[in-house]
Amino acid sequence: MTATVIDGKEFAARVRAQVGMHVARLKTDHGITPGLAVVLVGEDPASEVYVRSKGKMTVEVGMKSVEHRLDADTSQADLLKVIEDLNNDPEIHGILCQLPLPKHLNEDLIINSIDPAKDVDGFHISNVGLLGTGQKSMVPCTPLGCLMMLRDHHGSISGMNAVVIGRSNIVGKPMAQLLLNDSATVTIAHSRTKDLADVVRRADIVVAAVGRAEMVPGDWIKPGATVIDVGINRLDAPERGAGKTRLVGDVDYDSCAAVAGAITPVPGGVGPMTIACLLANTVTACCRANGLPEPEGLTA
Ligand code: GUN
Repeated sequence: MTATVIDGKEFAARVRAQVGMHVARLKTDHGITPGLAVVLVGEDPASEVYVRSKGKMTVEVGMKSVEHRLDADTSQADLLKVIEDLNNDPEIHGILCQLPLPKHLNEDLIINSIDPAKDVDGFHISNVGLLGTGQKSMVPCTPLGCLMMLRDHHGSISGMNAVVIGRSNIVGKPMAQLLLNDSATVTIAHSRTKDLADVVRRADIVVAAVGRAEMVPGDWIKPGATVIDVGINRLDAPERGAGKTRLVGDVDYDSCAAVAGAITPVPGGVGPMTIACLLANTVTACCRANGLPEPEGLTA
C-alpha cells in the first residue's frame, strides 16, 4: 500500500481563507477587527521564525497584529504588566506568549496570567480543565490542526484505536483529550512505555509527538493506519552539500508511507496547520467576546 499524503499546506490555506472570510464579515457587519498579540521574550532563533510567520499571516487574513519583543532579561513583573495591559485592551482578542521563556521566568505563572478568553494557545489551566471536561474552551493549536485533518480524512473517528506518542502539555495531552472527546479509544504512550512497537501496531491512528527524529519505523504501523507526524527535527544532510540540513518528522516517512493508509509529510503536514488554527482561535475568541455566533468548522 502507498499512503495518501495529507497535504497540510493546502488544508491550512483553506482554513486561512475561511478565517479571512469571517474577519471580513466581522469588519463589514459589526465594525470589529480581530486583534492578535504575540509576546516574545529573548531571541530564540526558532521562536523568531515562528513569530515573524505568525505576524505575516495575521495581517494577510485581515486581522490586527501586535508584537511585543522584550529583552531576554525582562523581569517577571514587567512581563506580567505587558500581559495585564493586553488583557485590558479591547482591541486585542488573542494573546500568545511564545514558549520557551527564559529560565528566570515562571512559565506556568505567566501563562495563567493571560485572560482565559484571550488564551488562543489554550494553555491556561482554565482552558485545560474545560477541554478535559468536554466544555467549550480555547483548544491548543497543533492538536486542533491534527484533529481537523483527521476529521476531514475519516469523517468520524468514533470507535477508532488512537495512539498518541508523547505526553507534553502542548501537544500529547490535549491531543489525547480531543481524540477522546471524538469517541476514539485513546492510548498515550511515552518514553517509559513498554513494548511501544506492539502498542503502536494496534493503532488505527498514530499521532507522533515526541521530538525524536524518525523514531517510528514502518514496521510499527498497522497496514492502512493514519499517521499524523507532529515532529519537526533538523538533521545534517551532507549529501545535499557542506553544512546543509533537512527537516524530518518523528516517523520514518518512507517506510511508514509504504504501510500506512494516510500520512502527513514533514515539512508541509501538521506545521502549517498550527498557525492557521491560531488565526482560527483568534476569530473564535473575537466572536465570543462580542456575543456573536462562532464560525463553524474552526473549533473542536
Ligand atoms: N512554542 C512552540 N510551539 C508553541 C505554541 O504552539 N505556542 C506557544 N506559545 N509557544 C510555542
